[in-house]
Amino acid sequence: MTTHKYRTMGQQFGRRSWAEPWKIKMVEPIRMMSAEERQRALDEAGYNTFLIRSEDVYIDLLTDSGTSAMSDRQWAGLMLGDEAYAGSRNYYHLEEAIRKYYGYRHIVPAHQGRGAEHLISRALIQPGDVIPGNMYFTTTRLHQELAGGTFADVIVDEAHDPSSRSPFKGNVDLDKLKALIEKVGAKKIPYVSLAGTVNMAGGQPVSMANVKALRALCDGYGIPVYLDATRMAENAFFIQEQEEGYRDKSIAEILREFCSYTAGAWMSAKKDNLVNIGGWLAVNDERVAEKARNLVVVYEGLQTYGGMAGRDMEAVAIGIGEMVEDDHIRSRVQQVRYLGQLLLDWEIPIVEPIGGHAIFLNAREFYDHIPQDQFPAQTLAAQLYLDSGVRSMERGVVSAGRDPRTGDHRYPRLELTRLTIPRRVYTQAHMDVVAESVKIVYDARRETKGMNMVYEPEYLRFFQARFRPID
Ligand code: F0G
Repeated sequence: MTTHKYRTMGQQFGRRSWAEPWKIKMVEPIRMMSAEERQRALDEAGYNTFLIRSEDVYIDLLTDSGTSAMSDRQWAGLMLGDEAYAGSRNYYHLEEAIRKYYGYRHIVPAHQGRGAEHLISRALIQPGDVIPGNMYFTTTRLHQELAGGTFADVIVDEAHDPSSRSPFKGNVDLDKLKALIEKVGAKKIPYVSLAGTVNMAGGQPVSMANVKALRALCDGYGIPVYLDATRMAENAFFIQEQEEGYRDKSIAEILREFCSYTAGAWMSAKKDNLVNIGGWLAVNDERVAEKARNLVVVYEGLQTYGGMAGRDMEAVAIGIGEMVEDDHIRSRVQQVRYLGQLLLDWEIPIVEPIGGHAIFLNAREFYDHIPQDQFPAQTLAAQLYLDSGVRSMERGVVSAGRDPRTGDHRYPRLELTRLTIPRRVYTQAHMDVVAESVKIVYDARRETKGMNMVYEPEYLRFFQARFRPID
């Protein structure tokens, strides 16, 4: 983008690296434990990386959720927290930031993304409804089901194929959606649940052309489109880079245009918004806003804080402004790509194209000798931790849970282990260490066996399930 400034020097040295658009002001020490200590920690955690203590982790790639490093401006913003029960000044800053950058009219704060998912699901879904979406997300689908709805996947087929290099694998398949509407009737579809960069598909984006066409199709049936905006700024980067006509548009302009095709959005501020906790729901329809405001006081908190402290809302408001800076988002996605490219160079199977927030190791191919009901992706996460203390997460059969009707495992085509990169936290050297550990585990793959599940909780089992390696 700004390479022309350096052209002379770049040509002289024959290379031109990029660097993070920030410098480090405060550090948090981390340490690598011995192999014996890691083995003990993993045993105690039932081979589930969610159950390992953070102190026992060397490089933590469990999630990009709530793990961002805040900027000096955001930390300064914390001191401006107005902790009044009602009408906090920070709420109005947040409202202003969401209106400016996302463009929605009515704002309802929530403690985090799933709080907002609960509100929108309860406000819009009637028992027996069907909610189409571009692949499920765990908490999103569960709230839709708890409200009496059934989720229907209408993502393009390529999304389920880890080797397809199609640039917009997050797109909605409009023919699938149309067929579904014709089958169940528009009255049974309260909204389309669209996610920007689809987490479970590998952080894959949705194109502007797709959201425009989706909106046109849905308008014909009177169905609104609601957006999971959790990683929508990253989605905007892919549009800027890959989609005809957007090269010269800013991330802020692209985000605003994309949102303009939707009726509202829910948000886990713990991702794109660069904070450690928070969320919100934002809608244009006053009636929907009223329902959500009625619910928020029951489940989250007053409509001007929704479970967040005033200082948290201030940090979100500032984070939204930083999120849309082109240099920020470019360095964020490029760091993910840097790690992915190291793995591709070693021919380690990952989901391609490389997505916005994480590298997804294709555990099905990585451990092609381990059947899916012996949890290859969970096994891979455990092996990585054992090798180096790098913490990753399963996104496969354990995350997919059981079919509520049959009680059987759901067997998703994607059996993935996610190396999720926190925003502004780790350096390129950390990425090198991670890649080398994956390589070592890959080289030992043939000797690795799968696992049995020895404890299974009722909801969102991946968080608390326990496993034992097969001898
Ligand atoms: N939607 C998406 C696409 C998400 O990735 C998440 C959270 C949520 C909604 C729920 O938000 O956690 O603030 O309640 N994803 C995290 C992850 C947990 O690790 O991918 P939340």
